[in-house]
Amino acid sequence: MAIIASNFKTNHTRKSTASFVKEVSEFLQSNNISNEVIVFPTATSLDEFETVSNLTIGAQNAYAVDKGSFTGEIGTTQLDEFAIKTILIGHSERRHVLGESQEEIAKKYDFYKNKGYKIVYCIGEPLEVKESGLDKTLEYVYEQFEGIDTNYDNLILAYEPVWAIGTGVTATNEDITSVHSAIKLRIPKPLLYGGSVKVANVAEICALDGVDGALIGTASWIVEDFKQIIENTKDL
Ligand code: PGA
Repeated sequence: MAIIASNFKTNHTRKSTASFVKEVSEFLQSNNISNEVIVFPTATSLDEFETVSNLTIGAQNAYAVDKGSFTGEIGTTQLDEFAIKTILIGHSERRHVLGESQEEIAKKYDFYKNKGYKIVYCIGEPLEVKESGLDKTLEYVYEQFEGIDTNYDNLILAYEPVWAIGTGVTATNEDITSVHSAIKLRIPKPLLYGGSVKVANVAEICALDGVDGALIGTASWIVEDFKQIIENTKDL
């Protein structure tokens, strides 16, 4: 059964998120689809959504704190208001655009692990590392597990090569299977692929050995496309 996750990034409003979640929930219910679906809206769009049990709402990010003086951040007090117990940690945009260090990421991971959150933990290499071969890629990816307790029960991993995110360039099936099989040998956890996954390629990617689902940005933001993505993977 594939895990299908949508990362809204900085897209959608409170209003459009609510209608997106409602529509996806109704779609899952009326078609009896049992895929595990996770939607990560913006923090401003979190709410008390009524959803089917296999649709979970998660936070794209939060600070490693319950509450306090951290301007611009949210903590578990704000997440608890909406019973959010799922969080994305280590996304490449947080690492490379927002400058989160591995140390900060590990601290955040530990904090949310201790609170029992479901953590979707992202790893992935930039283009120059990919170009230096599989060994270097794996070395880079393994460094992203520094300080991370990979035995944590409530952990889902997402391999997202940085060069494939938002670029329209999907990794080849060979790229995906070689990295996934190596990670899986070391860390036997559900492992999603992310990076330019779309309606047309999601089924093929999710059917690959060692791929347990997909984390999707751009192609998931239009609800019709996201429903089609779920439809295309419902029997995997
Ligand atoms: P993309 O983003 O699907 O737009 O490539 C994936 C992600 O960043 O999770």
